[in-house]
Order: sequence, then C-alpha cells, then structure tokens
Amino acid sequence: MQRSALLWAGLGMPALAQTQTQAATAAGRLNYLFNFGWKFYLGDVPDASAAAFDDSAWRALDLPHDFQIEQPWDKSAGEARGFKAMGVGWYRKHFKADAAWQGRKVLLDFEGLMLFGEVWLNGQKVVDIDYGYLGAEADVSKILNYGGDNVVAVRASTGKTWQQRWYTGGGLFRDVYLVVKETVAIARNGVFIRTPQVSEQRAEVAVQVELDGISNQSLDVTLLTVIYGPDGARLAETRTRAPQGIRLATVEAALPAIGIKAPKLWSCETPHLYTADISLLKDGKLVDRVSEQFGIRTVEFSRESGFKLNGRKVFLQGIANHHDLGALGAAVYERAIERLFLQLKAFGFNHVRTSHNPYSKSFMRLADKHGILVVDELTDKWSEREYWPGQKPFSQLWYRMIPEWIKRDRNHPSVIMWSLGNELQMREDYAGFPTGDWGVTTYKLLDTLVKRYDATRKTTVAMFPSRANGGVRGTPEFNTKLIPPELSLVTEVASFNYQFPAYQAYLQYAPHLIIYQSEAATSTLTGAYFGMDKDKMVGLAYWGAVEYWGESNGWPKKGWNFSYFSHALEPFPQAYLVKSAFSDMPLVRIGVVDGVGEQLEWNDVQVGKVSVSSHWNRASGSQLNLFTYTNADEVELLVNGVTVGTQQNPRNDPARRNIIYWKSVAYGNGGQVVAVARTQGREVARHELQTTGKAAALSIEVEASDWQAGGMDLKYLKIRAVDGQGHPVPTAAGDVTVEVSGDASLLALDNGDHSTNELFTGKRTTLHNGFALAILRSGMAPGVVNVKVSAPGLASAVKVLRTDRSPPLALA
Ligand code: GAL
Repeated sequence: MQRSALLWAGLGMPALAQTQTQAATAAGRLNYLFNFGWKFYLGDVPDASAAAFDDSAWRALDLPHDFQIEQPWDKSAGEARGFKAMGVGWYRKHFKADAAWQGRKVLLDFEGLMLFGEVWLNGQKVVDIDYGYLGAEADVSKILNYGGDNVVAVRASTGKTWQQRWYTGGGLFRDVYLVVKETVAIARNGVFIRTPQVSEQRAEVAVQVELDGISNQSLDVTLLTVIYGPDGARLAETRTRAPQGIRLATVEAALPAIGIKAPKLWSCETPHLYTADISLLKDGKLVDRVSEQFGIRTVEFSRESGFKLNGRKVFLQGIANHHDLGALGAAVYERAIERLFLQLKAFGFNHVRTSHNPYSKSFMRLADKHGILVVDELTDKWSEREYWPGQKPFSQLWYRMIPEWIKRDRNHPSVIMWSLGNELQMREDYAGFPTGDWGVTTYKLLDTLVKRYDATRKTTVAMFPSRANGGVRGTPEFNTKLIPPELSLVTEVASFNYQFPAYQAYLQYAPHLIIYQSEAATSTLTGAYFGMDKDKMVGLAYWGAVEYWGESNGWPKKGWNFSYFSHALEPFPQAYLVKSAFSDMPLVRIGVVDGVGEQLEWNDVQVGKVSVSSHWNRASGSQLNLFTYTNADEVELLVNGVTVGTQQNPRNDPARRNIIYWKSVAYGNGGQVVAVARTQGREVARHELQTTGKAAALSIEVEASDWQAGGMDLKYLKIRAVDGQGHPVPTAAGDVTVEVSGDASLLALDNGDHSTNELFTGKRTTLHNGFALAILRSGMAPGVVNVKVSAPGLASAVKVLRTDRSPPLALA
C-alpha cells in the first residue's frame, strides 16, 4: 500500500475538490480518485471500446461496483459461483484532461477487476487486466487529449463458470485512480520498508525506493525520507542521492538506515503505526512524494513455539474466507471491512487468511490498524485451465503476479506470511509446471521470485494432506494417509487444511514441520482448536466462518452452509462457543436447537451441523434441545426459575469442551430460560432468553462509527421488529420499506438470510428472524440524512443522521 500524501479529489466533482487539486499540484504528484461518474452496460457490446461510441443510454453509477450481485439468483447458473449468471459488463467514463498535465506521466491505476478484462483510452487498448485480484496500471500519457475530452472504456468478464470455485463478483469492484506524476518519480509500489533490527531499546528502519525515469542519466535527484511516530512526531530523517548513470529501467536506491529509539512495537493489542514520508527532489525542487505506513515488530516461526510476535507466543485464531462482503457482493468499501474486523476482534479472532487471492489494499491497511494477522494468499491452483481465474494461463502470469502482489503488500506489519496457493499438490495438473514432483519445483521457482521482493517473511502453500501427491479418490488411503505430502516438507511453514488429528503422525514422519491449520472445519467447532498442540503449532483459520456466496450445498442456500457469522455479520450462537475458547473472559451462551421436538442425539459430528438459535419464542408445550457454550466449570439451567439441573464443562474431551448439551427441556408456555455459569462455585457469567410479545413496531439501531461525506463511506443500520416493551421479536416476518432522504443513498438492503431469493437492490425487503440491515452510502456534501423504515401493521421508525466533512479518506 502506498499513499499519496497529497490530496483527495474525484474528477468531475464539485469545485471544492478541484480547488484542493490545484493546491496540491506544486508537489508534483496528483492522485485523483476516479470512482465517480461512470456509465455501465450489462452485456457485451461490439465497439464499446471506440472513442465515439454513444453511451448516453447507459446507466450512470459510481464505483466500486459488482454487477453480479445485482443479477437475479438463478438456480440454473449452479451452486459453485453463487447461482449468478456469468457475463460481461462494460464501463465508460468521460473526463477532461488538464492541459497542465502535458509532458508528465498520466496513469490509470486499477486496483482490480472481476474476473479479468481490458482497458481502452480514446479507443486505444492500454492494458489487459489478466488476474483481476491484483491491480494494473496503464500509462496513457501519449494518448490523452490534453485540455480536451477523453473517454476510458473497460470490459470486465466473469470468465467461464469453471474458472473459479466460488462467487467472485463481476466488474470494477475496487478503486480506480488517475495519477499524474513527473517523468522522474517514485515507481508504482516502489517503496520497501524493513526493520532489520528490533529491540525494545532501538529499531533500525531500512528504506528502499524504486525510481522511474533516471536510468542511464546523471541527474541531480535526492531522496529525503522523514519518519514520523505513531503520534505524528517527527523522529528522524535521511537524505541520499539517487544512483547515477545506471542502465536499468527502474533504479533501486537503498537509503541509509534510520534508528528509532524505544520503538512502539506493532502488535494485535497495540497496532502502532509509523509513517515514512519519501520526497523526491530534482534540482532541489520537490517533484514527488509518497507516504507509507509501517509497523515495527518481529515475527518468528519455529518448531518449538509455532509463531511468535515480538518474541511472544501468539496462536493464530482466525478465519479463512473469500473476499465478498455480504450484500455488497465483491464491491470493496473500507467501512465494510472495518466492520468485519471489529466483529472478529469482539469474538477473540486475531487472524485472517485471505483465501485464496489477494484482497483489497484497504483490507491490508485496516488489518494494520486493527492488529489483525494476515496470511496473504496469491491464488488457488497453479493451473493452465481448470479453476484458473486468469485471462491467460498460469505459466504466462505467475512471474508478473508475484512482483505486483509482494510489492503491493510487503510494508504491512499485519502480513506475517505469504501463501502461494491452495490444495494444489493433490493433482499434477493443479500443481504448476509438469516437473512430476507435485508442485515442489514450481514452489521453489515461485518462492525465489517472492524472496527477490521480500525476504523478511516465510512462504507456505495450503495443502489438503490426505490427498498427498495425488492419492487416488476411492482408494482406502485417500482419506487416511498419514504421511504429509512432499510439498509440505519443503515449504517454510507446513499448512494443512483440516486433518488436525493427523498432525502428530506427520511430526513423527517429519519432525521439522512447523504446522499451521490453514483451514479448520467450522463443523468441528472448537474441537479443531483444542485438538491442536497450541504451544508448538502456529494456529488455525476456520473455513467460511463468515457466510460467503458460492460453494452452496444446494439451492436455496446461496453460499457456504455452516458459518459462525451470517453474511450480515450477525453472530450465530456457535460464535460464542468459539469466543469461549479464544478468550479468557468468562462467558455462557444458550443456543436452542431449531425445530420443535427434534430428537437430537449427542453426536460429535452432528453437533456442529445443527441449526441453533438464541431466542425463547417457541411453540407452547414443546420439548427443546439446548446447548450452553461456556468456558466456566459448570452451568445451571433454569426455566421460569425452576432448575433443570447443573452440568459440568467436559473439559477433558477436546471435541466437547465448553459444550454442554441439554436434552428435552420443557418449554411450557414461554417465560424465561437462564444459564448460570460458575467457576469454583462462584457465578462468573449468565445468559438469559426471554419470550417476547407480538411485534408492534420497528426499531433502528445505528451502528456506532463516524460517517464521512465524500461518497465513499457507509453507515449500517440494523432494523428490528420489537414488541410493546421494545424487545426484539426474533420470529417476526413481513415486508419492510426503507426511505432515505438527504445527500446519501441506500446502497443495499439485506436481511441476513443466506437462502434469500431477493436482491439487495431496491428499498423493500422481508424481515428475516425479525431483522433487516440497511447499508447507506454517503453523498459528496456533508449534511443531514433522514431515514424512515416502515412495515404494514407496525409503527414506523425514523432516524436523523449526519455525514461529516472529514480529512481525506486513506487512499491508493
Ligand atoms: C477446502 C478448500 C476451500 C473450500 C473448502 C470447502 O478444501 O480449500 O477452498 O473449497 O474446501 O469445504
């Protein structure tokens, strides 16, 4: 991530933003957020790349945009990619190029494109975006009509169904920038910051800068680096002269090391961030400036203690998910990511594996800010065809993808390891070059290129170990093989999806392995966590812990089947079980097995798969099966003040630890159920469910956060049906309508139902479990935004909100 220190503005925006642009011009680099004022057409159009093409009838929209999420759910489109049709979308944007830009470098910077596509400027092809999870830059300096009209055209394709195994979204799903630089400038992602020495007393910061436009010349170019502390204090600076007369297109300049006394270390709890401000002076005049955040921390992987951050053991407690963000589909908004991190942290998670592709730059920046440890993954298979999401085959793209990826993400303290792929050693045609060794040689080649750009982190590949070296499906050894695959013996960390009971056997075979459970099955619940040797192993990431689109087990479910959080980020009761394991805070939570009178026998496997919910509005006279999730010694359950009994936490059984099962509890006619958790005989936590009355009104809960004008910030509103006393009614259904007035729009209306057949567009939805979620997008100007929610037969609710003028959003 690299940020211009300069400005925030959007072309075609109001005069104020333009004024800011002018003010910043003196410093050399301009970064225009290019998200606003696009035209869009769903479908392929011959000639839409032509400059003169008439797009006046196309739909106007702002980015980010995912055209797939807006399309009808379509059973025939298949479960893998989320029951959405594959297709093509076209985007066009008209803009004026300032005459003053002439003679400088003008670049269009696309942070990504689903799934892949091409870009034209004034009818000329300027770049192919072959792997849309990563960005690309197009130099349009020679094609622009300076002082006049220009048009950029983008064709985005979702590719064929077989090109991915999950929901990808389609279109310009991340930010686009127009960047104006001098011809002598800091290169794209050209700043690399390392901290080769770190102790509590002192840290050494090493900065390397890549420069464009100075090769083979002797120019008076100086780089000035200033380091600012987390509190903004100016701490140190260095000045160095750029290399002279080097015959390379891009010249790398290593700056003298900088010492920082008593550094504030970056950690999950204290994610302190420093800033390096790099100015490029030509003939003594400032011509470029880039500001980059970094953290000071050490990471260490070992067989003895798994993972250490700043010399202290940390066990990764994470999720492994795809990039989509619920009702927004693949479209990337910072607020949506921040909301995810806040929720994960509240439940004791400290880690995300970005399975199986690079996420957005904002994701990395926010992981830094919130102290989330990231295993950053490049791709799924290394394949020429099946499951390969590239516009060209793997063998033609890998050596371009790796530099783009590593240079983009290497300054983030949150990134602790590079993962080059997923479950690719199981078939030779997934495993890269046909060297006959199940990915070993391909890994070594890829890893060499990774290390050329960043040698400070370990690399790995996530493996499905039972499919070692292509164990043949249907043979007895396929699921039982207790020999780790050859590839896991050479990766720097051995990452295994699932199969945690086999890890000790792998260690017998290969004692040097440093083991990370790169995917844990959510259905194994906390068994996957308690079943690992936490002192010696790195950690785990629960696969699909947040509902994602695609990989559905079958219609009407639109995505992953068993998660801890809904796609709206509402926790299911099992999220509290995970929290009870991940945190020391005493906790108890009641989960009621859904389905009246269901005869659930205790069963380790089934237990994780049943649908459980936390409410006490059940059918009169029913017998209910319950779970209480707790990290206390014991739980007493009481229904309407009468004890049902007391049960111990089965702590010695890793599969059942923290889970207490209550069979056939008489519901009676409503009232209340209470779980009292005790440790050493003393009450440490309690959870109560209360039967609520008939729905009488709607309520709006505004999620706490600031809300910035400027068109890119979101506000989440939780809408609930409530009874006469204001208690949520979890069984309420029916239509709800949301109206927004003021300078903001209703971006999506959701109800958290992963089986929904409704779209998230429009201002009407159906309550699901008495719940709906409205996502508002701020407009350009700060001001008052009024929201009204109504439903037939229920009293409406209104809220008056405000958007604030704010400092520039963190950008490019
Ligand atoms: C894993 C795979 C994931 C996902 C998951 C579903 O084996 O790595 O990408 O497909 O299975 O269970």
